[in-house]
Amino acid sequence: MSKNIIIAIDGYSSSGKSSMARALAKRIGYRYIDSGAMYRAVTLHAMRNGMTSADGTVDAEAVTRVLPDIKIDFMVTPEGQHTMLNGEDVEKEIRQMAVSNFVSEIAAIPQVRHALVAMQQSFGSSKGIVMDGRDIGTTVFPDAEMKVFVNASAETRAQRRFAELIEKGTPASYEEVLANVVHRDHIDETREESPLRKADDAVVLDNSTMTIDEQNAWLLDLYNRCSQ
Ligand code: DC
Repeated sequence: MSKNIIIAIDGYSSSGKSSMARALAKRIGYRYIDSGAMYRAVTLHAMRNGMTSADGTVDAEAVTRVLPDIKIDFMVTPEGQHTMLNGEDVEKEIRQMAVSNFVSEIAAIPQVRHALVAMQQSFGSSKGIVMDGRDIGTTVFPDAEMKVFVNASAETRAQRRFAELIEKGTPASYEEVLANVVHRDHIDETREESPLRKADDAVVLDNSTMTIDEQNAWLLDLYNRCSQ
């Protein structure tokens, strides 16, 4: 009999951790939560309400003030999970480059992190959850029974993200995507509040040269060991 556990999957942007986390959750019948989508939803709300400027700056005080008005949830649809912002399906909009360009700045605001970490912890209150992000194994669920830290080179990750955007019909250039990946790595690693770092007890997965099937098999094997 395997026990119900919490699975934390952290890593760099576009490391493929979301696809991997989603596939594992489906396979083992767990709930999947994309914590990055929550930071993206707050970013979209801030952009729509004039709290971001063309020069790349963010009005952190204004964002903090509206946090209590922001409700984020996930809706399961036949095509996968959709992020809901105050009842509106924003799944497509939050993946746009315009949102990616601001999300790290928004995610560096301590009050935003506190509010979202509390929401994330409530999603995991009855375990049986796979959550991916940057600080899941370090801050959100430091006692998670299974922790993975995923990495791949910035070029590999930019190439994957670029292919994904093109497939979805979202206009982008490879150079722009690579610059965004490098920029986000820097902000994610150097912010004061829970920066991106590997939890001491996380298992590292460098998937630069792995196929999707190999990654999924690796993750399932680790789950089988951690849930004994
Ligand atoms: O995984 P993603 O690219 O959708 O994440 C979007 C941004 O949100 C990313 O720049 C870092 C931030 N993020 C975070 O700070 N903490 C998390 N747990 C998840 C994402």
